[in-house]
Amino acid sequence: MDSEELKGWLDMWEGNYLPWQLSFVHQAIEQQAEILMTSPEANSKIFVPLCGKTLDIKFLADLGNDVVGVEASEIAVKDFFTEHNIEYTTEDVPSVKGKLFQSNDHKIKIYCCDLFLFSADIESGFSGIWDRGAYDAMLPEDRERYTRVIKTLVHPGIGYLLEMPDRDLDKGPPFCVPVDVVEKDFGPGCSVVKLLEVTKNPPDFKTVSDLKGVNVFRLSFQQRQSLNQTKV
Ligand SMILES: C[S@@+](CC[C@H](N)C(=O)[O-])C[C@H]1O[C@@H](n2cnc3c(N)ncnc32)[C@H](O)[C@@H]1O
Repeated sequence: MDSEELKGWLDMWEGNYLPWQLSFVHQAIEQQAEILMTSPEANSKIFVPLCGKTLDIKFLADLGNDVVGVEASEIAVKDFFTEHNIEYTTEDVPSVKGKLFQSNDHKIKIYCCDLFLFSADIESGFSGIWDRGAYDAMLPEDRERYTRVIKTLVHPGIGYLLEMPDRDLDKGPPFCVPVDVVEKDFGPGCSVVKLLEVTKNPPDFKTVSDLKGVNVFRLSFQQRQSLNQTKV
């Protein structure tokens, strides 16, 4: 985990500067968790890329789901388990050059590693993916690397929720990515529809002068993605 970009994120955790952090469960998860929980191919296993210490993980696990997160900051991962009084074990995972933190009941697993080293070889069979502060947090030049990992995990019928700010296209992170670009990035066979407008955002979002709103989109996939369909 040696990129400048990643170091920037780790420094934010070191400095406890977390402008994205919600002190409540995200309204899309509170209202629409069902979308992530069932699919014809997989049941009740939800992936949360770049999960930080979002409260959504605990909420989804309490609904009976297995939840798998990936997060680079060990501070974030330890904070998550400690703040919810969840007992956990840790083990090295050499294939991702990181560690797995796992609740004792095995319902919550968080891989502390660079997402770019993660793939379906590590975990698969997801019924849903909750993508908040992940795809839209990527620098434009990293988006293709990001979707390359995600494409190994999606399949027809998976529930995919993506949060995205509505703001000037040249500002970020978080970045606003037009729907047609999202479809191209996650495609072929990916279609995107707006699901809801987020009305409860972190207080710091008010200081983002170009922010017009925050939306959650639902992504659907007509076909299983494969790496040879991915742009190189
Ligand atoms: C904007 S925050 C969103 C956190 C969480 N999804 C939420 O909604 O609260 C982005 C998170 O991604 C983590 N991160 C950034 N790049 C990463 C990478 N390449 N691999 C793993 N985690 C990363 C950061 O440490 C940070 O916690």
